[in-house]
Amino acid sequence: MQTDKRPETMQRINTAELAQDFIQTQIQEIRARVQDKKVLLALSGGVDSSVVAALLIKAIGKQLVCVHVNHGLMRKGESEQVIDVFGKSLDANLIYVDATDRFLSLLAGVSDPEKKRKIIGGEFIKVFAEEAAKLEGISFLAQGTIYPDILESDGVKAHHNVGGLPEDLNFELVEPIKLLFKDEVRVVGEALGLPHGMVYRQPFPGPGLGVRCLGAITRDRLEALREADAILREEFDKNGLAGKVWQYFIVVPDMKSTGVKDGKRYEGWPAIIRAVNTTDAMTATIEEIPYSLLHRITDRITGEVPGINRVLLDLTPKPVGTIEWE
Ligand code: XMP
Repeated sequence: MQTDKRPETMQRINTAELAQDFIQTQIQEIRARVQDKKVLLALSGGVDSSVVAALLIKAIGKQLVCVHVNHGLMRKGESEQVIDVFGKSLDANLIYVDATDRFLSLLAGVSDPEKKRKIIGGEFIKVFAEEAAKLEGISFLAQGTIYPDILESDGVKAHHNVGGLPEDLNFELVEPIKLLFKDEVRVVGEALGLPHGMVYRQPFPGPGLGVRCLGAITRDRLEALREADAILREEFDKNGLAGKVWQYFIVVPDMKSTGVKDGKRYEGWPAIIRAVNTTDAMTATIEEIPYSLLHRITDRITGEVPGINRVLLDLTPKPVGTIEWE
């Protein structure tokens, strides 16, 4: 079995050939270990869980059961992409759970960020455990643990990842990418044929849009946030910033200001743009977005998203501001 320590002699996986070698070795190891048993995986659609899913599908096909829990706080199109890529193209054994109503009713009226995180993490575990209990003959639980998770297990990520899976599920763990760094996971993901946009997507927090729809979440403000965020992503894509900027997103606070739309007074929320660059997320600098693009994004968001009447730009580096607002 793999240890938790990366051997000093282990070569950095930075070419398609090295990725293929890694994939072939893992396929053999996984087959030898799992044999004819079943493996369960919580598939969020993030880079790490997607790469683990694609690897396991290659190794054991339908003996892998993927569960995608849509907590209603995903970005626009993300759950659909999981269904398209894994359910349709890769023909995986995929269970899709739309738990939006459960999450949003528990979150109704809750404005404290830590409480929100706890509710989202706790409910995620509950939904996942419920799905696991319905399945028979599962022996293994696959996880997209990567090397920085092991190195930084008392750092930022451990604090953030309230959504760890329950220990009492009593499965043996399969963690095929636990000795890889993020750049290597991406090279392996491309070699596995996953879509570029999925493999190179920016980091997205476990609680999703829940920590960007500030304060107590309401469905209408969450929807406005999701649409405004989709416009920002589309414009960054079109203008060559998507591959350059480390993390960029919209935040919608729980406040309204006066505006005018279609010749009438219009009370709306502001959409705040945050676009940062960093290497380790411990400190971050601000991306200098061209003004012409900012104008275009502002026109589109205020014109296309119901409920939004202003667009603001967050100029605060980390420190003093954290990357997320909550
Ligand atoms: P902050 O806001 O602490 O964020 O500067 C640093 C990085 O961590 C991400 N982040 C999270 N990731 N669960 C996660 O999995 C969380 O609750 C969470 N909160 C922040 C953030 O997006 C940034 O990349």
